[in-house]
Amino acid sequence: MTHAIETVLVLDFGSQYTQLIARRVREANVFCVVLPCHAPIARIREIAPKAVILSGGPASVYQGGSPRCDEGVFGLGVPVLGLCYGMQLLSEVLGGKVERATHREFGRAQVRLHGHDPIFRGLGACQEVWMSHGDRVEAIPPGWQVLAETDAAPFAAARDPKRPVYGFQFHPEVAHTPEGRTMLRNFLFEVAKLRGDWVMSSFIEDSVAKIRAQVGGARVICGLSGGVDSLVTAALIYRAIGDRLTCIFVDNGLLRLGEAEEVETAFRAHFGKSLVVSHASQRFLSKLAGVTDPERKRKIIGHEFIEVFKEEARKFPDAHFLAQGTLYPDVIESVAAFGGPTATIKTHHNVGGLPAELGFELVEPLRDLFKDEVRRIGVELGLPEALVWRHPFPGPGLAVRCLGEITEARLAVLRRADRIFRDELEAAGLSRALWQAFAVLLPVRSVGVMGDERTYDEACALRAVTSEDAMTADWAELPDGLLRRTSNRIINEVRGINRVVLDISSKPPATIEWE
Ligand code: XMP
Repeated sequence: MTHAIETVLVLDFGSQYTQLIARRVREANVFCVVLPCHAPIARIREIAPKAVILSGGPASVYQGGSPRCDEGVFGLGVPVLGLCYGMQLLSEVLGGKVERATHREFGRAQVRLHGHDPIFRGLGACQEVWMSHGDRVEAIPPGWQVLAETDAAPFAAARDPKRPVYGFQFHPEVAHTPEGRTMLRNFLFEVAKLRGDWVMSSFIEDSVAKIRAQVGGARVICGLSGGVDSLVTAALIYRAIGDRLTCIFVDNGLLRLGEAEEVETAFRAHFGKSLVVSHASQRFLSKLAGVTDPERKRKIIGHEFIEVFKEEARKFPDAHFLAQGTLYPDVIESVAAFGGPTATIKTHHNVGGLPAELGFELVEPLRDLFKDEVRRIGVELGLPEALVWRHPFPGPGLAVRCLGEITEARLAVLRRADRIFRDELEAAGLSRALWQAFAVLLPVRSVGVMGDERTYDEACALRAVTSEDAMTADWAELPDGLLRRTSNRIINEVRGINRVVLDISSKPPATIEWE
């Protein structure tokens, strides 16, 4: 017998950690949705959440216009956990008091836990936690019970003893709170008594049934980019409708070394007759000849992609649907960090940006998932690990990593340098820990000496970043030996590069790609 899916609701008050809260809940095998804090109570009731988490946020509850939620949320009769701003809001609404902290507690802090509340089950009396707010709760609502304190915050955690409504001043969702996961799991399983049975296999079954119901007997077209999102989208749809899926893979001449062949072979093995490959390198490269402006490059590639895709799709008149690998972070209605809640929904086009005028209805089976969940589904569907764990690769491909003019010759130089760097990372077992790693060819020539000869060649930058979602990224610290080997190999093995530099910029303010 299948149970109804248990859903936890995260209300977003503008915290940079909101999505992280949702992911922690999902990691505990509990389905979770994020809504902006001002979501109408009717919409919240439709979701019928089994528990609600109020996120943090940068505002101060005592300031006019600070974000609020419908107070009906507190009357749903389900457990509520307010985190940081979420707790301050609970305190204010339920009769406590919040003020600007005289002694700001920012960063790591030690909390002392009082008593034996289920939310702290299994934890020692002293815990390290992460604080990040300039306000603090000065008085908890009448009748509430203190569960934890720090030197600076007497009410670091508190609850209503009569009903499961909790507040933490700190952030259990971040890695800097080492036992934060246990606290959140306790909220889900000890307090809200959830089952934790939202697993990938049931998602697949569900999704296959939904796809069949949506598309009936029609054909679905899916553009494969070589990335994991479009691949898993296609694999799910293939499982649902078999050969009535047509995958189109456009080789735009801007892929990495050996990539077009590797991807084609792997796709062919999985999708068989459903795969159409369009060899369009020359079309793209001739349109790009002489173009150096990054935005123009992107526009040309986007436009050309649509043309090629249309030509291929036209060959399948029974195709009424277009599959897209839209993920949950792309559809979450976000609350702007400052300036109050907004409801901007980013429309994401995974492969090149296909316009609505193509006239297809969209199939987006990954709309509810985070990237790590997509990977888990890919593995569960039997896709090769090497494909499932590929780093993201931008639609415009090497065009945005080959700064300056794009020529076959410069692309060939970049491909070889990039391959060496990625091979070295793979050999050192470091690839998986990185969000992305690649080489960038710079249109900068400098003088070098090789043997007794003067060289005057271009430079190459190595870019390796860690990230959770590409919104922010850190440059990765790589071992000296690996960098030394990579640099030696590139300069010795790749003619056309005589200098290798390391990109140590984080995002923001830099971006991951150079163009
Ligand atoms: P930036 O450079 O903006 O990149 O920090 C963030 C992430 O997005 C990828 N990226 C793209 N992906 N089409 C894509 O499908 C694009 O035009 C595109 N531009 C950047 C980038 O590789 C990184 O993962």
